[in-house]
Amino acid sequence: MISVYNKTTTGTFSHDVIKGLSAPQKYLDSKYFYDAAGDVLFQQIMQCHEYYLTNCEMEILATQSAAIAAAFDKFAGEYDVVELGAGDATKSQHLLKQLLDNGKDYTYFPIDISSNVIRQLENNLPGILPGLQLKGLNGEYFEMLQQANDYTSKNKILLFMGSNIGNFTVTAARNFCQQLRSYMQPGDLLLAGFDLKKHPQVILSAYNDSAGITRAFNLNLLKRINRELHADFKLSAFEHFPVYDPATGACKSYLVSLENQVVHIDGKAFTFREHETLYMEISQKYTLEETEQLAAQSGFKPVACFMDSKKWFADCLWKCI
Ligand code: AVI
Repeated sequence: MISVYNKTTTGTFSHDVIKGLSAPQKYLDSKYFYDAAGDVLFQQIMQCHEYYLTNCEMEILATQSAAIAAAFDKFAGEYDVVELGAGDATKSQHLLKQLLDNGKDYTYFPIDISSNVIRQLENNLPGILPGLQLKGLNGEYFEMLQQANDYTSKNKILLFMGSNIGNFTVTAARNFCQQLRSYMQPGDLLLAGFDLKKHPQVILSAYNDSAGITRAFNLNLLKRINRELHADFKLSAFEHFPVYDPATGACKSYLVSLENQVVHIDGKAFTFREHETLYMEISQKYTLEETEQLAAQSGFKPVACFMDSKKWFADCLWKCI
């Protein structure tokens, strides 16, 4: 999800931060993690040995792209490929290459909110994948999806990988998938990445790495608020505290206030009691059955599922019904 949300206007950012800190359960929206420093920290998280998600999904794409491409051909006719939150496309490259090797005539539409990400993809990817037809779309998911639909009437294969869907609650994920479905037509496919429920300790450790990168990633949002909104968060007065509930599959990250304190933002004062929690992020985990329920509730039929050798991660292929 590199840079997906770093082009936010100060007005919206400030409004969202103040709204979150005024709620009875204080919260911040994790979409704001990804400023320049947040992007670098997230890259480092993906290198941490505890953060298994990236390697698992990479294994799926590196070893099963032929099978995924065959499933595309089985369930769709002529198509273009649209990727939501494409980032640097490291994982999807395997699939894009496979489609080229198969002689498919398709255009790749990477969507990203960062113009920098899109520019880099446009500059680099055709060199790496000769013959690739690419049209970058810089903007919000749904607006850009509409643009992709306006460009071509071919069927679409939508890629939404990296467990980005996990950063929604189950209810919000359902709403998101329903909205996604409204931009798709019969014959279109969605390939969505889900992190699966597994031993709770494995999951908890992924969000509490021993090098403290995830801790820094969370605290970086307070730094960003200090810098961009002229606030005075004292970073040493907050502790990173992730929890995982194996019953619901919700992994939630909190910052716990270590003392009674007052934080000022834009002339407003926010009081934190000692041990009060600031809710930062959800990373929802699913069973395969739960992914199938989500598909059914949002107008899709699951048609194939590709898992890594440990069965920790699944890229699920859904067909529009
Ligand atoms: C981007 N997203 C899927 C990551 C996740 O696993 O929820 C963000 C992240 N937060 C902490 N570590 C990684």
